[in-house]
Order: sequence, then C-alpha cells, then structure tokens
Amino acid sequence: MKNRMNISEQLENRRYFLKDTIRQQTDFSETGQARQQPSPPLQKPYPADTVRVNLPDGATALKQLAGLSVAEAILCRESVRNYTKEALTFAQLSALLWATQGVREVLGTACALRTVPSAGARHAFETYLAVATVDGLLPGLYRYLPFNNQLAQLRLDSNIGVKAAHACLRQDFVIDAAVTFFWTTIPARMEWRYGMAAHKVIAIDIGHVCQNLYLACTALHAGACAIAAYDQEACDRLLDVDGKEEFTIYISSVGKK
Ligand SMILES: Cc1cc2nc3c(=O)[nH]c(=O)nc-3n(C[C@H](O)[C@H](O)[C@H](O)COP(=O)(O)O)c2cc1C
Repeated sequence: MKNRMNISEQLENRRYFLKDTIRQQTDFSETGQARQQPSPPLQKPYPADTVRVNLPDGATALKQLAGLSVAEAILCRESVRNYTKEALTFAQLSALLWATQGVREVLGTACALRTVPSAGARHAFETYLAVATVDGLLPGLYRYLPFNNQLAQLRLDSNIGVKAAHACLRQDFVIDAAVTFFWTTIPARMEWRYGMAAHKVIAIDIGHVCQNLYLACTALHAGACAIAAYDQEACDRLLDVDGKEEFTIYISSVGKK
C-alpha cells in the first residue's frame, strides 16, 4: 500500500525514537531478565579452533603512551582523515581497544563494567578491526575479545583496507587508515533488560565508545574519523555477521597523523 503520510508526519514518527516515551509503553515484566532467562553472553562466543592473539595490557599501554592530559586531548580532538603511512604499534592498538571496550570489572556472568558507560551495563557491542598496517599483525579482519584480552583472527586479507573503504560508500580516506574499527550491535543483549526500550540507549551507548576512541587517539598522536554513512549490507557481509541478530552500527578509521 502506498505510504500516505506526509513528510512532517513521517518526521514526527522518526522523532519518536529520540524520546523516552517508549519506557512508559514497555511491559518490563516481559523482558528476558524479568522472566529469569539467562543473559545473552557478554562477549560473542568464538569457535574453539579460532586463532587468537594475546594483547598487551591496554590500560598500562594507554598510561605509558598517552602524551596528553585529558584536558589537552579534549581540546585537540578532531576528525582526522589524512593518515601517514606509519603503522600503528601493537601496544597503541591495545590501548585503543581498552579505551573503547576494555573490561574494568566482571560482576558476574550477566554483568561487567567497561571503560565506557552503558545503559544497565549491557554493552551490546562487538568490535571488529580491519587491520591494514599494525606492527605485529598480518593484515586482515580481527575481533576484539575483551574478556580474554585477545584478538580473534577471523581471516587474513591484504586488501582489507580497500574492501573496508568500499563498504563505507567509497570514503577513500579509509584506504589509508592503519586500522578501521567496525562496531556491531547484538541488540538482544540490551533487549534482555529493556525490551522495546533497548534501541535508543544502544544508539546513545555507541557514541560513548567512539568518543573514547577519538580521545585515546588524540592522546597517542593518532587520528580517528567517525563514520555513520556506510553500506549496511556490504559492512555486514565484510564482517560476516547475519544483519539481524548482529549488524554494523558505527565505524571509525584510525591512523597516524
Ligand atoms: C555520528 C557521526 C557520523 C559521522 N559520519 C561521518 C562519515 O560518514 N564520514 C566522515 O567523513 N565523517 C563523519 N563524521 C565526522 C563529522 O563529519 C565530524 O565530526 C564533524 O565534521 C565535526 O568535525 P570534528 O569531529 O573535527 O569536530 C561523523 C561524525 C559523527 C559524530
């Protein structure tokens, strides 16, 4: 049937997503948590034969390598789209991963605190890395395992930077990035607690993650550029996620400046 809504009605419908009206309309007794169902895993499981790479301690790396105070990092933060050919070091990458999704404290099987805030501490994200030039890592696709402090090596691919740029609607600065962060969301992790009210807070939460990436990059004399204009299906294909239970939500390129 033809959509008969005019533009202002359509906009009003879209604006609804930004409000918290949904909270009053949600039956929280129906959520997985209220029904005492087990929480979805806090970290996406990986097959037993996955090649895993140990990371150096990210907190230590960030403290040792950060060349700026928080105030200076906030002052100097900017989107950086021009990158040198200099590789990121393994310790720098570890610092960035920790700053964005590192685990501070495990409170049980259903809850852990991380370096970023999250509604209900649900942290409904996974971090994938399109690695082009990071010392000590072969180019390819990796996934951060914050609870193991490891990277899962998903596949090696010397052309990953070009593929990442294509999936980002040919934003060509991505080709020159040392690494591009692709964040997916697994909405069930948030829906388990908030049901229909989960989705706005997922969108809010991912902003915290990317802001920490910006600030940590600035402190490491590297640069990041947030990317929300991307080809949804192409990114989900690149990451080999199903596009339904898990899908790309935000991206950021990173490189030395
Ligand atoms: C949600 C969001 C989406 C963005 N998407 C893109 C993008 O797809 N491509 C891009 O080049 N920059 C993107 N940016 C970066 C903005 O263009 C940039 O933050 C803005 O121009 C302000 O510049 P500054 O970050 O240097 O202060 C995005 C930023 C945000 C916060």
